[in-house]
Amino acid sequence: MIYLDNAATSYPKPRGMVAAMEECILKYCGNPGRSGHSMSMRTGEEVYHARRKIARLFNIEQAERLVFTKNTTEALNMGLKGVLLPGDHVITTSMEHNSVLRPLKALEKRGIRQSIIRADREGFVKPSDFEKAIRPETRLIAVTAASNVTGTKMPLEEIGELARKRGILFLVDGAQGAGSMEIDVKKMNISMLAFPGHKGLLGPQGTGALYIDPELKLNHIMEGGTGTDSKSRLQPCEFPDGYEAGTINAPAIIGLGYSAEFVEKIGPEVIGKYEEELIGWLDERLDEMDFVTRYGPQACRKTGISLINIRGAAAEEVTSILSSRYGIAVRGGFHCAGLAHKTIGTWDEGAVRISVGPFNTRRDMEKLTDAIREIGRRHKD
Ligand code: ALA
Repeated sequence: MIYLDNAATSYPKPRGMVAAMEECILKYCGNPGRSGHSMSMRTGEEVYHARRKIARLFNIEQAERLVFTKNTTEALNMGLKGVLLPGDHVITTSMEHNSVLRPLKALEKRGIRQSIIRADREGFVKPSDFEKAIRPETRLIAVTAASNVTGTKMPLEEIGELARKRGILFLVDGAQGAGSMEIDVKKMNISMLAFPGHKGLLGPQGTGALYIDPELKLNHIMEGGTGTDSKSRLQPCEFPDGYEAGTINAPAIIGLGYSAEFVEKIGPEVIGKYEEELIGWLDERLDEMDFVTRYGPQACRKTGISLINIRGAAAEEVTSILSSRYGIAVRGGFHCAGLAHKTIGTWDEGAVRISVGPFNTRRDMEKLTDAIREIGRRHKD
């Protein structure tokens, strides 16, 4: 299979990741932070190292402020519900994934208001629009690093600077950017960063994390065992334990630690540049096909995504033909981001999303181009 669905989850993974997970499961997988025996302690140490490696990627100084979650959705829910109070106002964008928009919709019932900045048809938002939307009660700006639909990169540094100047918290959804573009919590004044382990960081599914600025108090959205202060009925507030109630997915986190180091060695910006070259080459070919409509910006302003429709063929049909006839994996439809599709003009039909990763090659792009040309021709006739 030619795998071009890396925005959903990356594939393949670095081989060493599997070895690290296997070693943990077979040789020492105790419950970290729970017992004093050597297996529990070794697992705890390996999780500690993984946390530090992952923190380094985002210039996070205090690794303990990085809380492991099962995915970005859980991290975003923790961040949004952990800081917002009745009467607060939030500014977000029309390019957000449902993992931001649905919690914010649910929070309306608790008296939290929101303004949604409408992006242009390529998915871009203007920092000046955020400035105009600020109210005295604005507590948070929540923005994706890059759209999961078009790949459009958001002006994080400018928005972060605005948030800092106006004393507003800044939450970044790193689901699509983490691992393939620079995300620096200090430089970008990021108060909270949610990201997955299983996409650009090339780790296993079931992993994600939320970074919380050391100055920021986070209310719990879940209580339970932490391995600390067991006689107290109150949830501890220490990081990370107090926010990682229950047994964590240690083998997966250790695997993620391996993968994050792999990504760090190559460099997220080098990976991003390589993906940009692949997508740039592909977009040029697609733009020459009169039966293809392509959405979103040029390659240098987005992550490794190309979003298209083929005239006369529904997005889901194209996805299915690519898989069954050509052995090519892409994702069609609405990508859990209906409002983003409305913004770019694909509300009715959805679109076919091609998303590359660091292991894809020019040859993959050539095979996809040939397949799209053939599908386009057949649907013309
Ligand atoms: N959020 C993931 C995607 O965009 C699953 O496909």
